[in-house]
Amino acid sequence: MERKIWIDGEYVDWDNANVHILSHSHQRGSLIFGFIPIFENEDGTCIFRLDDHVDRLFKSCKLAGIPLDYSSDDLKKSIIETVKINTGSKFIKISVYISSVEIDVVPQEPFTKVAIASYDPVKDIIEKNSQPFHASKELSVWIEKEKKQRRSDIISPQIKIAANYTTSMMAKWKARKEGFDEIFFFNNDGNLTEAPTSNVFIVNTDNELCTAPEEYVLHGITRKSIIEIAREDGIIVNLENIKIQDVKNASEAFITSSSHLICPVTKIDNEKLGNGNVGNITSLLIEKFKKIIERKDNRFNHWFTVVE
Ligand SMILES: Cc1ncc(COP(=O)(O)O)c(C=O)c1O
Repeated sequence: MERKIWIDGEYVDWDNANVHILSHSHQRGSLIFGFIPIFENEDGTCIFRLDDHVDRLFKSCKLAGIPLDYSSDDLKKSIIETVKINTGSKFIKISVYISSVEIDVVPQEPFTKVAIASYDPVKDIIEKNSQPFHASKELSVWIEKEKKQRRSDIISPQIKIAANYTTSMMAKWKARKEGFDEIFFFNNDGNLTEAPTSNVFIVNTDNELCTAPEEYVLHGITRKSIIEIAREDGIIVNLENIKIQDVKNASEAFITSSSHLICPVTKIDNEKLGNGNVGNITSLLIEKFKKIIERKDNRFNHWFTVVE
């Protein structure tokens, strides 16, 4: 594979971008990461909301107490350069990790490395793996009722750290085995938080968009974008507590993430949501987002960094 991964200023071949099996980040999940979409449009190769993504990376490191010894500007420059040399990339993955071999949960050598990978997930990963990839355009969702997967009193959902995805992985894997595409989590007070790697929106019977308050969720850049787009165009957005029944009574629902942008939910717990089709507001927002990505809506052009 010709892809090069930037590691602390050096370009390393994709196949040689390794860490030791006993490294702290591998053994303890102490890896902070970011995942940024890249779009091709008439202006060329455009990185989506680079400033916001890099700010969130720094915030995650700060909240977790993981050192990140780069300036924001230097990281952004390296990201742009990495995208430039890895042509045809669709996403950027930044990793901040403790590569030293450690015996204690507290690292004796608490120094981090930074890796920037820029690639096409389909060509560079999915097609190279041996098993089929699970993908659905409309989601059938399972509501997890027995366990509370998001406990912000234990670990802040605002930290994008590998260890925070363990319970999500187990829960979503179980949902998949039961025949669902996705799973929604609720906190101890019975309020909707998010899905394993996405934020959740519902549309209530008054055609208002509702999503969980900031303190329960990762501050998704796509979530933030949807809130801005909707409000700009006069759709009411409520950041509020949402119960299981509110989700089941919703006329529409969708999830948002950098990987899929907006993905409609049409079934909850094996029952049709609304009329079982992709709803009007969901379709409208998908359409608006598409225009923005194509840079045909000038109001949002500042979201893009063009890779010259
Ligand atoms: C837990 C969680 N919530 C929400 C999101 C969506 O965030 P973004 O839109 O920035 O990709 C992610 C993305 O990885 C996530 O892991």
